[in-house]
Amino acid sequence: MTPPRMTQYKILFVCLGNICRSPAAQGVLQSIVDRDGRQEDFMIDSAGTYSGHQGELPDRRMRSAAAARGYSLTHRSRPVSSLDFLEFDIIMAMDDNNYTDLMRLAPSVEASRKIKRMADYLTGHSITYIPDPYYMGRDGFELVLDLLENACGNLYRSLVSAPEQ
Ligand code: 4NP
Repeated sequence: MTPPRMTQYKILFVCLGNICRSPAAQGVLQSIVDRDGRQEDFMIDSAGTYSGHQGELPDRRMRSAAAARGYSLTHRSRPVSSLDFLEFDIIMAMDDNNYTDLMRLAPSVEASRKIKRMADYLTGHSITYIPDPYYMGRDGFELVLDLLENACGNLYRSLVSAPEQ
């Protein structure tokens, strides 16, 4: 059995509304962590750069598409806060707008170094961002889940196979 790490990985997924992509990424990574029994090693959350959906469950279409793959999405939308830049180790932007907004919100250079692009963890896809499915049909939600499953699997492996600090 793999021994638990001394420190937790604290990962915040960020999109615009925090009702489609980032809560789905949170659910996908949590499911991988749960499958491996590594719950104590990870703290996973999500937030949005836009606060208009604060308090809402994920979009019904995303909940439905995710449920069909075995993910139960129960997160409530919340905006990114400056405290997030202290609390989390990795702040993962879904697209370039999220990345730019997060860079603007980062309170220090050190904090800005925590901001990463989710698409940088994709393999076998040429797309460079996780597309916003809000105005897409069902295929858009399936594409987002395909991309997130790929990127979260790679992110997870990159962390758990990294040497202890
Ligand atoms: P998300 O999708 O950023 O993946 O949560 C969106 C949700 C809501 C809106 C846009 C994108 N909106 O314009 O309200």
